[in-house]
Amino acid sequence: MDTLLDVSNLRIRYGGAAREAVRGVSFTLGRERLGIVGESGSGKSTVGRALLKLLPGATITADRLRFEDVDLTLLSEREMLKIRGRRMSMILQDPKFSLNPIRRVGDQVSETYLRHFRCSRREARERALAMLEAVKIRDPERVYRQYPHEVSGGMGQRIMIAMMLLADPDLVIADEPTSALDVTVRLQVLDILDNLVRNRGIGLIMISHDLNLVRNFCDRVLIMYAGQVVETLKAGDLERAEHPYTRGLLAAQPRIGGPRAPLSVLDRKPEWLEENA
Ligand SMILES: Nc1ncnc2c1ncn2[C@@H]1O[C@H](COP(=O)(O)OP(=O)(O)OP(=O)(O)O)[C@@H](O)[C@H]1O
Ligand SMILES: [Mg+2]
Repeated sequence: MDTLLDVSNLRIRYGGAAREAVRGVSFTLGRERLGIVGESGSGKSTVGRALLKLLPGATITADRLRFEDVDLTLLSEREMLKIRGRRMSMILQDPKFSLNPIRRVGDQVSETYLRHFRCSRREARERALAMLEAVKIRDPERVYRQYPHEVSGGMGQRIMIAMMLLADPDLVIADEPTSALDVTVRLQVLDILDNLVRNRGIGLIMISHDLNLVRNFCDRVLIMYAGQVVETLKAGDLERAEHPYTRGLLAAQPRIGGPRAPLSVLDRKPEWLEENA
């Protein structure tokens, strides 16, 4: 499998924090869908942002942090700017915070294209409209002229995806991309992401606290607890998870048609914290 990302012993400490927020995380990513799950505060977003080096004030160390042919540990901020948004990009949970509220949607989308490729404004506009259509926005001309507050959450998320796609990245990190969306829109967004992996062969990291979503959508899953990866499994093998934390998470998922006994509650063991400390 051709490897897009190769991460070994990634450690991240926020300035002033007593302990590392991420402690010794290692994984590889090919042209596949990799899920990262874990409870709030387990370090999922920190890992995602570290890959783009979007963690001002934090110290990042790693034995290996490679993306395609580049060693990310060696890159300056200036060199990172050429990669970020172009060869790897991130989709965030709430699109409303990521779009500039006082500028029209279309201008922001075509500007993304202009930033990465040399072309006329007119060509950028055409590309932007085509991409809005590709992410299933029905009346792209109208949406193009709208301001962010005029579009729905689901449309906002699709606009963000369109912006990201214009740069034609190889790696996409989606941090809770669907938690703010209702069920039908969520399925549409997942479908768009799924097509990207299948048709364009990108690598996708899907960060979520929703074990069921990740189980159904991803090829492989990393389970994080307190800044560490406690287990890496094929999505289809989750039932065979061995780590007690993963087992606890699985047992805490309600199932339609399952037994109606009370759901079990996770019983955290202090020794889980020590593994890579
Ligand atoms: N900017 C920051 N400065 C200091 N500490 C931070 C910062 N961002 C996150 N942390 C800490 O790092 C740890 C991991 O946080 P992170 O946001 O990566 O968790 P998460 O798994 O993404 O959680 P959630 O599911 O709530 O998004 C937490 O203990 C958090 O308090
Ligand atoms: Mg997070």
